[in-house]
Amino acid sequence: MKYNLALIGFGNVGQALAQILRDQRANLARQFGADFKIVAVCDLLKGSVCDPNGLDPATLFEAVTGTGKLETIVAPHHGWDALRTIAESGADVVVELSYTDLKTGEPALTHLRAALNAGKHVVTTNKGPIALHYAELKKIAETKGVEIGAEGTVMSGTPSMRLGVELLAAAGITRLQGIINGTTNYILTQMEAGMTYADALKAAQAKGYAEADPAGDVEGYDAAGKAVILANLLMGAALTMNDVERIGITGLTPQDISTAAANGERWKLIGKVEKAKGQVTASVRPTRLPITHPLASVGGATNALTFTTDLLGEVTLIGPGAGRLETGYAVLGDLLAIHRRFGK
Ligand code: HSE
Repeated sequence: MKYNLALIGFGNVGQALAQILRDQRANLARQFGADFKIVAVCDLLKGSVCDPNGLDPATLFEAVTGTGKLETIVAPHHGWDALRTIAESGADVVVELSYTDLKTGEPALTHLRAALNAGKHVVTTNKGPIALHYAELKKIAETKGVEIGAEGTVMSGTPSMRLGVELLAAAGITRLQGIINGTTNYILTQMEAGMTYADALKAAQAKGYAEADPAGDVEGYDAAGKAVILANLLMGAALTMNDVERIGITGLTPQDISTAAANGERWKLIGKVEKAKGQVTASVRPTRLPITHPLASVGGATNALTFTTDLLGEVTLIGPGAGRLETGYAVLGDLLAIHRRFGK
């Protein structure tokens, strides 16, 4: 089964997807019977290129890492904006990877609406539209008989959404708690090892963990967005960003961190979603944990999420929470899920 992909946004995650398809496309076709072909890429800064016959992922990757531009690639169409790319590229799946805006969800929201209304599957790692407008998007997808893949919105490629939605939903999820932002966990880990806050943040940006505007990470908005996504997609809630009690890590001083360490404790930014008496509440706040606590040993950009369920008790998932290839893998997971459901 062949799938034509249009990539909207070609930053860290889009480039990682191109890299994965460059290395794995033939193998994926052999192993799963799914052939993922990139037919268009459109990026606000790097330009756009479309070839309905397919673009070579290696060429895309090299063009962007070399010249930083897509327009130099030989192809029948250049210069299309996102909406034209969605409408005219012949894509079956729109992979939406533009920057996250947790206030409006735009421009991704407009892209996703257009793609779904045109009867195309969508895969996104963009938290904005999923945290803010999932119910509306889901309704359009159901009407059109297409899928929304959003695995990469929480814990990057570590399959937290799929675990919750497909495997633990019937166990009755009552609480989700853990480390759901990689950048802040990386910064806290580095600060405990003696690095300054500014250097740790710079390193997190260089490694591709941080949001385009890292204030989203350090002020706790990114984790709050993920808490909303977990609450709404896994617990059937209808929370908004304003419903999440949110405190970031910017108030933590090196002194706070060393005092905690001297007392056998460690600061972690903990996200929590709880259901009690039918009511779902969510919070994100720095929490001092004893070093023996299971979440205290989760360091760097690694994330961890404990699902508390009625039938199974606690199930904890630990894995990458941010990163280029890690999030690129989430997109691949969603593409394969579309193939499993529709590729008959
Ligand atoms: N900025 C996010 C983080 C990326 O650090 O967790 C993954 O969602």
